[in-house]
Amino acid sequence: MKLRIKWKQHLKTIIAFLLIVAVCGAIVVVSGIAPIAASSGHWEITKWFLNFSKERAVATHSMMIEVPDLDVQSKIVQGAGHYEIGCLQCHGSPGKEPPRVVSLMTPKPPDIASIVPDREPQELFYIVKHGIMLTGMPAWPSQQRDDEVWSVVAFLLKYPQLSETEYQQLALGDFEKQSAQTIEGVADDALTVPHEVIESCAGCHGVDGKGRELGVFPKLAGQNEAYMIATLKAYQEDHRHSGTMEPVAGRIDEKIIEEVSQYYSQLKTGDATISSAETEENREAIARGQKIATNGIPQQNVPSCVDCHPTSRTPFNNAYPTLNGQYADYLELQLNLFKQRKRGGTKSANLMHAVVDHMQTEQMQDVSLYYQSLKGGE
Ligand code: HEC
Ligand code: HEC
Ligand code: HEC
Repeated sequence: MKLRIKWKQHLKTIIAFLLIVAVCGAIVVVSGIAPIAASSGHWEITKWFLNFSKERAVATHSMMIEVPDLDVQSKIVQGAGHYEIGCLQCHGSPGKEPPRVVSLMTPKPPDIASIVPDREPQELFYIVKHGIMLTGMPAWPSQQRDDEVWSVVAFLLKYPQLSETEYQQLALGDFEKQSAQTIEGVADDALTVPHEVIESCAGCHGVDGKGRELGVFPKLAGQNEAYMIATLKAYQEDHRHSGTMEPVAGRIDEKIIEEVSQYYSQLKTGDATISSAETEENREAIARGQKIATNGIPQQNVPSCVDCHPTSRTPFNNAYPTLNGQYADYLELQLNLFKQRKRGGTKSANLMHAVVDHMQTEQMQDVSLYYQSLKGGE
């Protein structure tokens, strides 16, 4: 009995205390004296509380995430390419501080080299994919593309050891802005390289449109112009999904879209990026792929590909992509994305869904190797 009376008294005290705290809190907020100024930074207690909440949330949400193999050069290069256009403006890069205005943010974006050693890959994945609320750390622009987020994580894991030169090499390859002025086109004429290509596209797709020899950045040289225009617009409107290409396309207007698409479509596709050893090694797969491309797989209801993706240089329809000489890894990834309904695309993208639904993984690999071996169909 006594115990119950005591307990009741305690409960009353606790409720009274909570009420006082709530009223004080309300007074602080309503009166407008609560600090929201980034200039003054957080109080120590607020900082502790926010950090503690962040750490708990990241630990809990990343617990069940399975980590793929990340020590893969193509993933690291793809991640570096994205870092160069999407992260360094806030986090800086090896040897380069971020712009001064960034140091006026609260919280300040941390130096990546100092945080990576204390983070598990799955934690980095969770943060890069979802961002951190109320801090300025944005979410990945395309939630469908976990593969792209993993590439950024693969790169972040290498970040602490990188020198300035190594970083430049990973992010931009051999590309040097100064030397790119004109280039020989398919009609043996000299094409002027558009400003936007030098400033943006070339870092990943090359001035010559041949990508970076790793299959993560598709070849654009000789690609059909109408397809490229429609594709860049599809990225802009989030009808095609890529956390790297959506912001790139979002920054350019219609005139530039037309100019860069026309430029890349007039370049020679060439065969420089596929070694003959690779073709030799995959001879049998390529032969199987050729059969699929020309005849389809009738017993699985898969149509032939050449009807829409001809092996000659003459396009069947300028709004459909040419696959000739394209990297097999890129083609295979796109087929898998179509199958998972994560690719999106132009308004004709639905045509590809019926094509891939009954294809097996090995068949996708074979047909991709076949188109890669075509060397541009010239
Ligand atoms: C607009 C500025 C901005 C951009 C762009 C940005 N970040 Fe951040 N990032 C921040 C801020 C601010 C924080 C600090 C958040 C905090 O302390 O809770 C942060 C935190 C992080 C963290 C967590 C650090 C930790 O361990 O607590 C990682 C990892 C990270 N960013 C990676 C990236 C990557 C990768 C990109 C590019 C895809 C990127 N950020 C783009 C502002 C930015
Ligand atoms: C940071 C690297 C990067 C930059 C810079 C970049 N791209 Fe891309 N681009 C990619 C990646 C990665 C893909 C594959 C995305 C996907 O899976 O949808 C791609 C895909 C494309 C495609 C689709 C190709 C196809 O066969 O469907 C086009 C077109 C394209 N980019 C054009 C451009 C243009 C034009 C620019 C410059 C304004 C540019 N890109 C800048 C990385 C980049
Ligand atoms: C009825 C026409 C049609 C047929 C048949 C067809 N495709 Fe396609 N394919 C398309 C169209 C249209 C696109 C462009 C979709 C978009 O991005 O909007 C496309 C896109 C692709 C892409 C992505 C290319 C890139 O640059 O991103 C691949 C890979 C592809 N097709 C492979 C195949 C293969 C392999 C076959 C045969 C098994 C095939 N297609 C049969 C119409 C077709």
